[in-house]
Amino acid sequence: MTDTLLILPGDGIGPEVMAEVSRIIDWFGDKRGLKFDVSEDLVGGAAYDVHGVPLADATMAKAQEVDAVLLGAVGGPKYDNLDFSVKPERGLLRLRKEMDLFANLRPAQCFDALADFSSLKRDVVAGLDIMIVRELTSGIYFGEPRGIIEENGERVGINTQRYTESEIDRVARSAFELARKRGNKVCSMEKANVMESGILWREVVQRVHDADYPDVELSHMYADAGGMQLCRWPKQFDVIVTDNLFGDLLSDVAAMLTGSLGMLPSASLGAPMANGRPKALYEPVHGSAPDIAGQGKANPIACILSFAMALRYSFDQGDEATRLEKAVEKVLADGVRTADLMQAEGGTPVTTAGMGDAILAALEASL
Ligand code: IPM
Ligand code: MG
Repeated sequence: MTDTLLILPGDGIGPEVMAEVSRIIDWFGDKRGLKFDVSEDLVGGAAYDVHGVPLADATMAKAQEVDAVLLGAVGGPKYDNLDFSVKPERGLLRLRKEMDLFANLRPAQCFDALADFSSLKRDVVAGLDIMIVRELTSGIYFGEPRGIIEENGERVGINTQRYTESEIDRVARSAFELARKRGNKVCSMEKANVMESGILWREVVQRVHDADYPDVELSHMYADAGGMQLCRWPKQFDVIVTDNLFGDLLSDVAAMLTGSLGMLPSASLGAPMANGRPKALYEPVHGSAPDIAGQGKANPIACILSFAMALRYSFDQGDEATRLEKAVEKVLADGVRTADLMQAEGGTPVTTAGMGDAILAALEASL
């Protein structure tokens, strides 16, 4: 059976970075015999403009059936005043929740060619390779009660942090499994000093470790100290496992260590489907960057590397994923730079499509 891919370019720079990914998907079809049955649909503001909702039911149904979903980005100032329930971000959150994509893998890797771009010193970030595993379907993003209510003559905003043992258990397992294939180290982050959900989190992660992963080195850290340690000496970490909100914050911090948010891919994985593959959605960590949309300034690398993660985690093509990652590394080493990477002197400035051209040329050269 042909592997199926659903592409959701979304808003802002989403469509232009996804256009480069499409060329790369075609290349793997032509040159490596990886044929994908690709369909495309709308998400976010683009879906709202057509359907009045940020994700149509038909799109949701399609996402449930394919082997992997590839998403660009959602959101933009045009949609800022929409009702909360139809904001572009709700489309993405619906995909995550209904596909039950509980394990969000966010690697932060520092390419040697970009080590000077970080706001931190070169020796702090050079060679950095960490993986944040963020819980993605629960916690304060989805907990009830939530809302804005009236109380004693004023409004009160309410959100609820909530985690069940099974939700913590399954994401902890994902982190330990990953760690075994990497540096064999997991650091779990919560706020057990002030939050009951943090106390339970720590307990369950420790229990899963002791029962089934005693060979993996486990440590626990308060999430605020974790943020500090990520800036002080990030290379102490291998895999970090944390909840939805802390993972959102800490993955942005980790992203900055690598020099540019335009570089970082992510995978959101759920339980195995009938064919044994995990439900999966791949997307860049960056947003829709409406300020530079449509100008050829966007860096397509995060989205391209997200497709590399799809090759590895959904299609069992680890060697081809590595080929693509190496092509990106080569292009960066050659000094090819989109606008976000131009802060250092030297380098060849290119447009979004120019970066796509360079990566395709490096792929050709890899044959
Ligand atoms: C992310 C983003 C999203 C989040 C938004 C766009 C809903 O910040 O993927 O990190 O908060 O999860
Ligand atoms: Mg975020």
